[in-house]
Amino acid sequence: MKAIAVIPGKANSMHLAELPKPTLDAVPGGRGVLVRLVRCGVDGTDKEINAAEYGQTPAGCDFLVTGHENFGQVEAVGPNVAEFRPGDYVVATVRRPGTSIYDRIGAYDMTTDDVYFEHGINRLHGFLTEYYVDDPEYIVKVPRALRDVGVLVEPLSVPEKGILQAYEIQRRLRVWRPRRAAVLGAGTVGLFATMILRLRGLEVTTFGLMPKPYLNSDLVEALGARYLSTRTTSLREAAPACGPFDLMYEATGFSPLAFEAMEALGKNGVLVLASVTGGDRKVEVPADKINLEFVLGNKVMVGTVNGNREHFEAAVRDLALAATEYPGWVARLLTHPVRGLENYRRLIDTLTTARDAIKVFMEIAPQGG
Ligand code: BGC
Ligand code: ZN
Repeated sequence: MKAIAVIPGKANSMHLAELPKPTLDAVPGGRGVLVRLVRCGVDGTDKEINAAEYGQTPAGCDFLVTGHENFGQVEAVGPNVAEFRPGDYVVATVRRPGTSIYDRIGAYDMTTDDVYFEHGINRLHGFLTEYYVDDPEYIVKVPRALRDVGVLVEPLSVPEKGILQAYEIQRRLRVWRPRRAAVLGAGTVGLFATMILRLRGLEVTTFGLMPKPYLNSDLVEALGARYLSTRTTSLREAAPACGPFDLMYEATGFSPLAFEAMEALGKNGVLVLASVTGGDRKVEVPADKINLEFVLGNKVMVGTVNGNREHFEAAVRDLALAATEYPGWVARLLTHPVRGLENYRRLIDTLTTARDAIKVFMEIAPQGG
């Protein structure tokens, strides 16, 4: 079968590879699920992997099959699989457990291991291919009615985890009635964070770089949230009128904004940091002021990465909720399809150059009935 692979450490190495089709017995105990991939999205992580800034090969292999935003259809199941049937639409989680205590309770997204395993990213082959076989433990069912947007489950699972963590943390307050939220970044993750918070009834201000109107600002406003361009209004300027912010979600990929966000966070507020920033940027910050206000305001800040089964399931539920609350909204994120694994060049070129893209994704195979 065909697969899109890279050679980690070698820039622009994306190429087409040929791999044997996996078989059900790849999972012991008759528990294999064979999935035919229908679509696979790409994001900044894939861009970094192709630029040789990130990514590791599986042990004993000199290439890595990329792609983690998977969506597929079950083709066959082992004799001891009761959870799925052929024809079911499914998404697999990205990370696989290591050895820490968190890994052992299914919270592999919270691993404390230094070495971690992520399909299509780190030490495990990904989903820009035709088939995979996995354990039902790592596969989440997507209702048929959501199949057109199923490829967005994985990117949605990431802010689902971040926001769930924020709510968990805020149980410290005994009573928490968040009213105003700020989302920094209006890319896929920022848009989804806005959606999740709007579905929970918060008043949301989403900050993007570009001045409105454009598709992303239209999408923010279609959710009943406020869009502000940081070119015209800085976070600092906006905070007095749009805040105080009870919850802030940082997803711009630009680390200095994390420190600006610390200044704009309201008393008892929670700031979620979600940008994977590979660089080594340095900034000067008003350290005494930020520290003092954090202390006197009982504020918290939390980092978040990845997501486990629970967050993928939350993503599926919120896609269903969004379909009733904001019909057609989610599908508008699917801006740039590319058809056929052999067109990997177009996939990566679109990902790196299309400035108006929200979600670039590969149509691997037509979805069956
Ligand atoms: C993926 C996550 C992953 C993170 C860090 C993101 O693009 O969606 O699953 O944990 O990259 O590797
Ligand atoms: Zn990702």
